[in-house]
Amino acid sequence: MNIKQADFIISAVNKEQYPKDNKIEIAFVGRSNVGKSSLINTLTNRRKLVKVSGTPGKTRQINFFLINNEFYFVDLPGYGYAKVSKQEKEKWGKIINTYLSNRKQLKKILLLLDCRRKPSEDDLAMYNWIKYYNYDYIIVMTKIDKLKRSEIAKHEKLIRDTLNLSTSEKLIQFSSTKKIGVESLLDSIEESLDKLN
Ligand code: GTP
Ligand code: MG
Repeated sequence: MNIKQADFIISAVNKEQYPKDNKIEIAFVGRSNVGKSSLINTLTNRRKLVKVSGTPGKTRQINFFLINNEFYFVDLPGYGYAKVSKQEKEKWGKIINTYLSNRKQLKKILLLLDCRRKPSEDDLAMYNWIKYYNYDYIIVMTKIDKLKRSEIAKHEKLIRDTLNLSTSEKLIQFSSTKKIGVESLLDSIEESLDKLN
C-alpha cells in the first residue's frame, strides 16, 4: 500500500468530536512512550504529522488522521505512564475506553509493545480486551533498532510467552528510526482493508 496523503483532522476528547463520515478507522494503542506517534509519522512518511517527544504522555487526546482520503489512523493517548496524577490517569483511561468500547468504524487495532520490555499488566489487559471484543489486530514490537540482532529472538519469546500467543500469530518487528517493518505493516493494513471493501 502506498500512503499518498495524510491529513490531520481533529484532536478529540469527547465522542461528539469524532469524525462523522463513517470511514474505516485503524487505531494505535500501547503504553506511553512505546512509539505510537513516531510509527504513524513513519508509516505516512511525514516527520512532523504527529507530535513526538522524549517526555512520555505527549499524546493526551485522540488524534484522527485521514489517509488517502479513504480511512483514518487513530492515535490514542498511551496508558501506564507513572508520573501523572491518579486523576489524570483516570481521565486518560476514560478517553481511551470511550473510543475503544463503542466505535463501529474501528476495524483494526495495532497493539504496540516495546521490544525491550516484558509486557505490563496494562498491556496484557489491553490484549485481552482486544481478543474479548474480537477485534482484528496486529502486534508490533517497537524500537527494534535498540536490540542487537542476537537478542531479538529472546525478547520476542518473552512477549509471546507473556501474552500466551500461539506460534501462528504474527508479530511485526518495527523501527521508526531505522525504518524496519514499514512494508510488512502497510501490507498487513492493506490486507485488512481489502477484506472490508
Ligand atoms: P505517548 O504519546 O506518550 O503515548 O507516546 P508514543 O507512544 O506516541 O511515543 P512517541 O512516538 O512519542 O515516542 C516516544 C519516544 O521514543 C521518542 O523519544 C521517540 O523518538 C522514541 N522512539 C520512537 N520510535 C522509536 C524507534 O523506532 N527507535 C528508537 N530508538 N526510538 C524511538
Ligand atoms: Mg503519542
